[in-house]
Amino acid sequence: MSHLELSVLGAGNMGRALIGGLLRHGMRPEQITVGESQEVARATLSRELGVAATADNVAAVRKANLVVVAVKPQHVGEVLAPLAAELQQRRTVVLSVAAGLRIQALQSWCGAGVPVIRAMPNRPALVGAGATGLFAPPQVDASHRAMAAQVMQSVGEVVWVATEDALDVVTALSGSGPAYFFLLAEAMTGAGVNLGLPAETARRLAIATLHGTGLLAQSSDGDLSRLRAEVTSKGGTTEAALRTLQAAGFDELVARAIEAATRRGRELAEQFS
Ligand SMILES: NC(=O)c1ccc[n+]([C@@H]2O[C@H](COP(=O)([O-])OP(=O)(O)OC[C@H]3O[C@@H](n4cnc5c(N)ncnc54)[C@H](OP(=O)(O)O)[C@@H]3O)[C@@H](O)[C@H]2O)c1
Repeated sequence: MSHLELSVLGAGNMGRALIGGLLRHGMRPEQITVGESQEVARATLSRELGVAATADNVAAVRKANLVVVAVKPQHVGEVLAPLAAELQQRRTVVLSVAAGLRIQALQSWCGAGVPVIRAMPNRPALVGAGATGLFAPPQVDASHRAMAAQVMQSVGEVVWVATEDALDVVTALSGSGPAYFFLLAEAMTGAGVNLGLPAETARRLAIATLHGTGLLAQSSDGDLSRLRAEVTSKGGTTEAALRTLQAAGFDELVARAIEAATRRGRELAEQFS
């Protein structure tokens, strides 16, 4: 991390999660400069994390070799365009975490020659357990890709995808994925209550099961079918539940849901671009 001079533009949920993750992973506060429009957010960063923050984005990127763009997608153009001269002069790497904003749009604001990389993280990044898909066009070199990966690894798992279109699938799978698991946990809680458990008991059991299952999957070789088989005794309770889910077309339903999210992501990306 010692070679990184980082600028983070936008210290909201995702920006702060990244700064926190990087500091936990050994980055020094002096290596990070934040550009943030909200005075309260700037003061909190300086006070709690010892990171310099300014309302002047040009000043925030001046020393950086990598700029993380973490403002809302609709603000990215107005944030990047005034920085174009600075970014082009120093060939600063730009890493955007903005959902749905295409490389072509980002490049048009940064100008030619600026290495632009996209990341699609998800909400659990806020607790250091995120899943991020990364994409860079072929002209972005390996050292710049490595810098981007290092930044995103500070808040969880990172995978590279080969095409920009694949990032729409990442968005649908892991970007929206936490909501699918929450929905399942809510439905399990409701079912437990209907069958006589107190609501708080059912909720605590559902959340602990969600958490423990994630840990178990992460600490194994990742063979999900084998993990499922290990908790499914022949003729037992789990098998009865899974049979019911599968007879109702569970796999097809999930596939359709993720297809719908991918389509919607593409429609939104068209609107942004
Ligand atoms: N949160 C997630 O779980 C998540 C997941 C995946 C991707 N992302 C992406 O991450 C990005 C940030 O999301 P977020 O949830 O962190 O948003 P957020 O909490 O609204 O944070 C954005 C911050 O940037 C500030 N800002 C706005 N315009 C600025 C400017 N011109 N210069 C400097 N700072 C400016 C905002 O201030 P104001 O409030 O005054 O506008 C706000 O403090 C989005 O593009 C989103 O698509 C987020």
